Amino acid sequence: MAKKNILCIGAGYVGGPTMAVIADKCPDYRVTVVDINQSRIDAWNSDKLPVFEPGLAEVVARCRNRNLFYSTDIPGEIKRADIIFVSVNTPTKTFGYGAGKAADLQFLEKTARSIVEYADSDKIVVEKSTLPVRTAQALSRVLHANTKGIHFQIVSNPEFLAEGTAIADLESPDRVLIGGMETPEGRKAMEEVSAIYENWVPKERIITTNIWSSELTKLVSNALLAQRVSSVNSISALCERTGADIDQVTAAAGRDKRIGARFLKAGLGFGGSCFKKDILNLVYLCEHYGLPEVAAYWEEVVKLNDYQAKRFVENMLGAMFNTVADKRIGVLGFAFKADTGDTRESPAIAVCRQLLEEHAELFIYDPKALENAKQDMIGYQKVHFCEDPYDALKGVHAIVVATDWQCFKDLDYQKIFDDMEKPAFIFDGRNLLDRKKLFEIGFNIYGIGKKPLTKF
Ligand code: NAD
Ligand code: UDX
Repeated sequence: MAKKNILCIGAGYVGGPTMAVIADKCPDYRVTVVDINQSRIDAWNSDKLPVFEPGLAEVVARCRNRNLFYSTDIPGEIKRADIIFVSVNTPTKTFGYGAGKAADLQFLEKTARSIVEYADSDKIVVEKSTLPVRTAQALSRVLHANTKGIHFQIVSNPEFLAEGTAIADLESPDRVLIGGMETPEGRKAMEEVSAIYENWVPKERIITTNIWSSELTKLVSNALLAQRVSSVNSISALCERTGADIDQVTAAAGRDKRIGARFLKAGLGFGGSCFKKDILNLVYLCEHYGLPEVAAYWEEVVKLNDYQAKRFVENMLGAMFNTVADKRIGVLGFAFKADTGDTRESPAIAVCRQLLEEHAELFIYDPKALENAKQDMIGYQKVHFCEDPYDALKGVHAIVVATDWQCFKDLDYQKIFDDMEKPAFIFDGRNLLDRKKLFEIGFNIYGIGKKPLTKF
């Protein structure tokens, strides 16, 4: 018999990989992932998983139907579970009060109501989703509005995985954060959650805090990371005006141990489903708690990010004689970062839409994100999706590098140059390619925070 039955509600980018690694590392726990989306569950049960992550397919293959199950039987699995992780989506609200900033907690509340409806014994409910600080209070009220005498312990256990490296992040996390109520029952629930991770995470990396600190730490961690990206991107604009080179500046600044070398890469701006939404959530919370100066400080991180994509397109226009109308532009990459098929909030979306507004014609290639790209560009004319990078770049006036896929470095740029309109332009939005080599081939090459290398 399984030591414990773990259930995860929400089979997305977080619930899917996280539970696969828990099942892998804890063979004596029975782990089930449920979702209201039947096709997502079908995909988790098939050879074509709904999420692309390096190493994920191997982990799933080892555990599926052993101690890892994907199901839509939400009532049955809630009844069976001892510990329920809630990993549903918490997007930015698009309507009503707080629209554009606050987190939309309807999916969380609906999940809580399902738990209340179907549970017939006490349970630990773990907040895995990223939530506004003090959500546990509301969650507790919904869960305890039951007349069955059932008690729920709420634990916060935010997830810090990054897409593209999710399996490595889960297998070797910098830290696991567990927040709980400061009562004997609360501490016992935290220990039960900690016991899961102790199967493979060294105990000194498991941090326990009060529940509000845990909820807030998740928002703050994402805000601090995004702030670094916006800080560097702001300086990239100054580099372009002054002749300084952003990679040289960040490499030298990052050598200071207090600053650190990571997360200082200039680019088109941060994308992904988390950074923007979580900072806006933080902004909303600060406003709600009467801290307008603090709110304004964090909001600038998002504004600067929007500016960066806009600035990139303006630079393109300037270089291409102030018009891209009817020009063909090849776009390398659409995912918000390399090694994922996820395009949520990808800066490629903003760049492509602006170019289409300027009447360019786009040819998009991405190794993993083309299906999502098609959804993002629904309603736009003059946009083509190519299965082969050379098809996307044949005969174009300019190339945009929108994602840092390493495979873009290995393309045959001489062949691409020979097939392009002249003058041939590359706008490297990720400072990914070898500028000198491309310049020698004959390209005019523009990066971020760098002096352009041009033939005129
Ligand atoms: P996602 O949209 O990929 O997955 C959420 C899933 O929850 C969907 O499949 C949806 O159908 C399901 N769902 C919604 N309501 C449900 C209900 N009532 N019952 C059952 N299933 C329901 O989202 P995600 O990217 O996995 O993110 C989930 C949470 O984790 C969010 O709060 C996010 O902020 C946080 N997070 C995400 C990442 C990331 O890299 N994507 C990293 C850390 C934390
Ligand atoms: C982020 C957090 O890193 C992770 O801890 C959290 O759990 C979820 O949100 P994710 O969005 O998946 O993860 O990827 P991340 O590697 O953080 O990149 C976010 C965006 O910032 C990407 O668009 C990336 O290209 C960009 N970025 C990152 C930069 O532009 N420069 C950098 O130096 C780092």
